[in-house]
Amino acid sequence: MSKILVTGGAGFIGSEFVRYWLAHHPEDEITNLDALTYAGNLANLVSVESNPRYHFVKGDICDRQIVNELMKNTDIVVHFAAESHVDRSILEPEAFLQTNVLGTFNLVQAAVENKIKHFHHVSTDEVFGSLELGSAEKFTLETPYEPRSPYSASKASSDHLVRAYGETYGLPYTITNCSNNYGSHQFPEKLFGLTITNLIEGKKVPIYGDGKNVRDWLFVTDHVRGIEAVLQHGPTQETFLLGGLTKDVSNYEVISQIIRLMGKNPDEEIEFVRDRAGHDRRYAIDWSGTQAKLGWQPSVTLEEGLRQTIDWYVENEDWWRPLKEQAAGFFAQNYRKRA
Ligand code: NAD
Ligand code: DAU
Repeated sequence: MSKILVTGGAGFIGSEFVRYWLAHHPEDEITNLDALTYAGNLANLVSVESNPRYHFVKGDICDRQIVNELMKNTDIVVHFAAESHVDRSILEPEAFLQTNVLGTFNLVQAAVENKIKHFHHVSTDEVFGSLELGSAEKFTLETPYEPRSPYSASKASSDHLVRAYGETYGLPYTITNCSNNYGSHQFPEKLFGLTITNLIEGKKVPIYGDGKNVRDWLFVTDHVRGIEAVLQHGPTQETFLLGGLTKDVSNYEVISQIIRLMGKNPDEEIEFVRDRAGHDRRYAIDWSGTQAKLGWQPSVTLEEGLRQTIDWYVENEDWWRPLKEQAAGFFAQNYRKRA
């Protein structure tokens, strides 16, 4: 039996992890430390809130006292908490530095002091920068770090801190760098949630730039299964890459696919808008090393994952409508200057 401290468990991927782990690991206990920022939502956890093996603590990972107190009673830390949206990092970077860098620093420091058995850090492929469009190149464990947005720079810093604490203080850690996730419960500011909900609302779908940018889409449950495989492998001070697709799919192509699956015509629903500053052109992950070592591979095809995701947003308007209303200020700021 393990006592697991999850940070950011009320967000998109963290809540998927909490629900999945409690269902698949009946011996383990989870404490979820989450500050409930705009992206944290306890509605994501209603299915587990009365589970005696689940505990929620509202708090900030930058708060030394709370973090130290919780770590006294923890075997494993799974660290999801972050500011995660690139466009917000371009508009207001400070919170990204605070949570992603200083928050991670606070956690690794407390993990060493409290002799945590395994610290798992959830990170992103964006730390590697941008690949050339049309090339066959993929991100590997040898790819140098070249973050290009405040978000990815803050995540790169957090990865470096975790590794440095491994080298200097012997922190028993693992890191996963994962590509773009999609699925249920994703805040409707990210591409797929925004697209599906805009279509339900009868609004246009904004595509940045020429729409040729490529992302490597992974269904969120496959990401969680990847983290599970790493946790079961143990605190080996290794990094694992997780990704989804084996061939490039552009934003225009995947958005058109969503529009068609929703019974509409891409020519009528898409609006090209001004590009994101410093927009990374292409991501592609070589996850063959993870497959060879852990036996992990994605299990949900893009089409199947899109169908499930669309169905979920269609059936859960009560979940996303208030979030879109609360985020109206951000949407106005982000999309105003793109018109
Ligand atoms: P999210 O924005 O949906 O959720 C983040 C969660 O962290 C929220 O519940 C929020 O309340 C909480 N949080 C934020 N600041 C906090 C703080 N200071 N203290 C405590 N809690 C805080 O994010 P997500 O998409 O679920 O991403 C989770 C992690 O996975 C992040 O570290 C992100 O960098 C990484 N990641 C995300 C993706 C993706 O496609 N979404 C891909 C690869 C890696
Ligand atoms: O690669 C992993 C990363 O994926 C995670 O680390 C981040 O937390 C997560 O937000 C995501 O970052 P992206 O910037 O790739 O995701 P986003 O959904 O914001 O955008 C996906 C692509 O779609 C990107 O090329 C920008 C484009 N886009 C996005 C929005 C919001 C549009 O064309 N229009 C939009 O309105």
